[in-house]
Order: sequence, then structure tokens, then C-alpha cells
Amino acid sequence: MSAEIGSGSVDDVLIVLTNQHERARAILAELHETVAAVAEITRDMAGPFRELVQLLVAHEAAEELVVYPTLKTELEEGRLAEALMGEEHEAKQLLAKLEKMSAGFFEFPDALAAFEMKVLAHAEHEEQTVFPLLEQRCPPAERQKMASDFLYVAAKAPSHAHAHSPESAVGNAVLGPVLATIDRVRDATHR
Ligand SMILES: [Fe+2]
Ligand SMILES: [Fe+2]
Repeated sequence: MSAEIGSGSVDDVLIVLTNQHERARAILAELHETVAAVAEITRDMAGPFRELVQLLVAHEAAEELVVYPTLKTELEEGRLAEALMGEEHEAKQLLAKLEKMSAGFFEFPDALAAFEMKVLAHAEHEEQTVFPLLEQRCPPAERQKMASDFLYVAAKAPSHAHAHSPESAVGNAVLGPVLATIDRVRDATHR
């Protein structure tokens, strides 16, 4: 599973982000088709669903710790960062609900459809706003640094959705050591 989370060239954060968005879209489409065909949750959905959860939890956590801070400080796009984090928060709440639903099969198709819409809209929003900003205003060396930080955080992220992570105390307890390591690495390289 970590192969998917860590997939993509470390050359450029835009490549890593794009690859992960594409992978998430592919899994969502696969789940969508299965649900449309059988109108319920099936055993074959467990693998893709688990991969999707892991991918998205890691992806969003890494964006919140590596991409959005750059957006806020360096690129002075704080309002955009806040809007996108709000969308992620809503997606995370839906995902936490979905994860708890394994016993309540009836609600799963509707909850999955709502989650899919939220995730697709969020990915598109990022692609139309954040990606061009990174491309135009972050030099390649910076994007490469962001790519390695992003993959590092993604690899350490929790594997389940928490409705409030990582901005909650729980999320920060898990990701705190990761942040500290990134800060140390940054300080060392910027000296
Ligand atoms: Fe995101
Ligand atoms: Fe994203």
C-alpha cells in the first residue's frame, strides 16, 4: 500500500500530487462502478476501499503539513489555504463516517456517493488553484524539496480517518514528531 502512497517522482511535488489525485479518482471510479452494479457493499470492495482511505488520509495530511503552509506564508494565499482545508475537513468527516459504516450496509452507497463528489470537487479545486500557483511561483528546487517532505509525511501519516485529524490534538500527537523532523531538516538545509 505504501507503494501507492509514495508513488510518483520526487522531482516535483506537482507530479506527486497529480499522481495521487489520479490514483484516488481511479479507485473512486472502481468503487462507484461496483456499487452501481450491485447496489451494496461487496467483499471485493474491501481492498480498494482500504487503499483509498490510506491514500487520502496520507495525502491530505501531507498537504496540510507541507503544501498549505507554503501557500499561506510564502505565496501569501492564506484565504485559499483556509478554504481548501475547510473542504478537506468536510471530506474527512464523511470518510470517518464511511469507515464506521461496515456494519450498516444500507447507508454505504449514498455515503460513498457523497464522499466521492466531495473528493472530486476538492481535487479539481486544488488542480485549478494550487497547482498553477506552485508551478508559477515556486522554483523547481523548492518543488523538489516539497516533494520529498510530502512523501516523508505521507509515509508517516495515520492509516485511518479521524474526523478532526490532523488539526486535532490526536492528529497532532501522531504527526507532531513528523513535523519536528521536517523542521530540523529545513533548519539544517537553510543554514
Ligand atoms: Fe487536498
Ligand atoms: Fe490534493
